[in-house]
Amino acid sequence: MSQPVINENTLETVKATAAVLEERGTEITSHFYKRMFNNHPELLNIFNQTNQKIGRQPKALANTVLAAAKNIDQLETLLPVVKNIAHKHRSLQIKPEHYPIVGENLLAAMQEVLGEAATDEVITAWEEAYNVIADVFISVEKEMYQEAEEQDGGWEGFRTFTVVKKVPESDVITSFYLRPADGGSLPLFEPGQYITIKADIPGEDYLHLRQYSLSDAPNRDYFRISVKREEGGGQAPDGIVSTFLHRHMNEGDSLELTAPAGDFYLQEGSRPVVLISGGVGLTPLMSMFNTLAEDPSRPVTFIQTAQSRNLHALHEYTSRVADINPHVSYHVCYDTWTEAEEKDPYVQKEGYLDAEWLQSLKLDEEADYYFCGPLPFLRAVNRILKKELHIPADRLHFEFFGPAADIEE
Ligand SMILES: Cc1cc2nc3c(=O)[nH]c(=O)nc-3n(C[C@H](O)[C@H](O)[C@H](O)COP(=O)(O)OP(=O)(O)OC[C@H]3O[C@@H](n4cnc5c(N)ncnc54)[C@H](O)[C@@H]3O)c2cc1C
Ligand code: HEM
Repeated sequence: MSQPVINENTLETVKATAAVLEERGTEITSHFYKRMFNNHPELLNIFNQTNQKIGRQPKALANTVLAAAKNIDQLETLLPVVKNIAHKHRSLQIKPEHYPIVGENLLAAMQEVLGEAATDEVITAWEEAYNVIADVFISVEKEMYQEAEEQDGGWEGFRTFTVVKKVPESDVITSFYLRPADGGSLPLFEPGQYITIKADIPGEDYLHLRQYSLSDAPNRDYFRISVKREEGGGQAPDGIVSTFLHRHMNEGDSLELTAPAGDFYLQEGSRPVVLISGGVGLTPLMSMFNTLAEDPSRPVTFIQTAQSRNLHALHEYTSRVADINPHVSYHVCYDTWTEAEEKDPYVQKEGYLDAEWLQSLKLDEEADYYFCGPLPFLRAVNRILKKELHIPADRLHFEFFGPAADIEE
């Protein structure tokens, strides 16, 4: 990435005002979203309305714009973060023409929230900064669109798939096997990547886009996703897309998908691999596991945690793979056991995963570690691996099934 040229005065103004914006960042972006959706209700077909309701997305965008602005004279340091977001944007089909809409509404929101403090000089400087940041995103995303379309079996936009098989994997997780309706070939994605589904649900005012990790190895003649049914409770309604898929999406039905994306994937090389999942977080790791199970030269250990046996997906399958492959190790931890688990050689821990149990497994210190699950799980695993097993940070890779979140404790 070449460093964009930015005017000295702009740089000074942006840096001088970043702290004020940081203080009121969430307020500004919350106002920005309301404003933007009022002016452009068509964008409600793209943005995740649940993230809006529970306040997850405003924080993620606010933090990124500020982080980018503070580092505007050395944007290359943010490239990994930009790429991660750009994968999500590409998967959601965010296009260059969307950026001026965000820019215009963000700047107007700044003015409306900050009042007199937002002088013309300040707004002009932030406009220039936003345009520089937006150009970086647009150029990174342009390459990603080209790659997704031009690879073998790749495509542009959404492609129609047919559900060829629907398999319950646990009381709450069901797999959907998908083949392109056009009969064409599939691209070789990286194990760990996800697709976006566009759900047009009867009775809903807008479309709903959701990401699902591909849960089988890349070299199959289908894509598989494994979806947890998110049931509501208390004030929370049922999850919109996951319950729709479970209840109404059956063999023969169609789904619209964008091409695989994401930067959480199995790194090439010869290092051993340790995979650690919490609940439905096993899906991207299962894709890595199935890839490695076919490669006897690379030892793989899969540690799966779940609340209980009936909520644990793909256990019999993983046990069978471990039974017949000497380079595969498998260990399971349930919050609570029943008698049946006492006879299962792979179910080895009751309660929460902890440092003592992980140490007892004698995991390879030279391995790459991949983990995925709910936030408290990610935070605990990150702390244990870093602080108690002393695994260097550059060998830890994780994914959270929501907008970027901090897992450092
Ligand atoms: C990269 C990535 C990969 C993913 N891979 C998978 C995967 O392999 N398998 C999988 O199952 N999921 C995966 N997800 C999660 C998935 O994208 C969806 O977020 C998930 O299915 C829930 O979507 P939904 O529409 O059913 O629920 P939503 O309607 O989005 O609701 C989400 C949750 O919020 C609660 N909620 C809704 N409204 C409120 C409210 N007003 N107050 C309080 N709570 C509320 C709901 O009860 C529900 O539990 C992945 C996500 C990402 C980002
Ligand atoms: C420079 C400008 C932008 C920045 C800094 C930015 C930043 C972000 C960040 C940090 C995330 C969360 C990533 C994650 O899920 O981990 C995100 C997601 C997202 N962005 Fe952007 N973004 C920008 C422009 C846009 C534009 C122009 C659009 C479309 C109008 C857009 C639409 C989305 C959507 C739909 C999501 C998914 C999250 C959700 O639906 O709640 N973004 N962006």
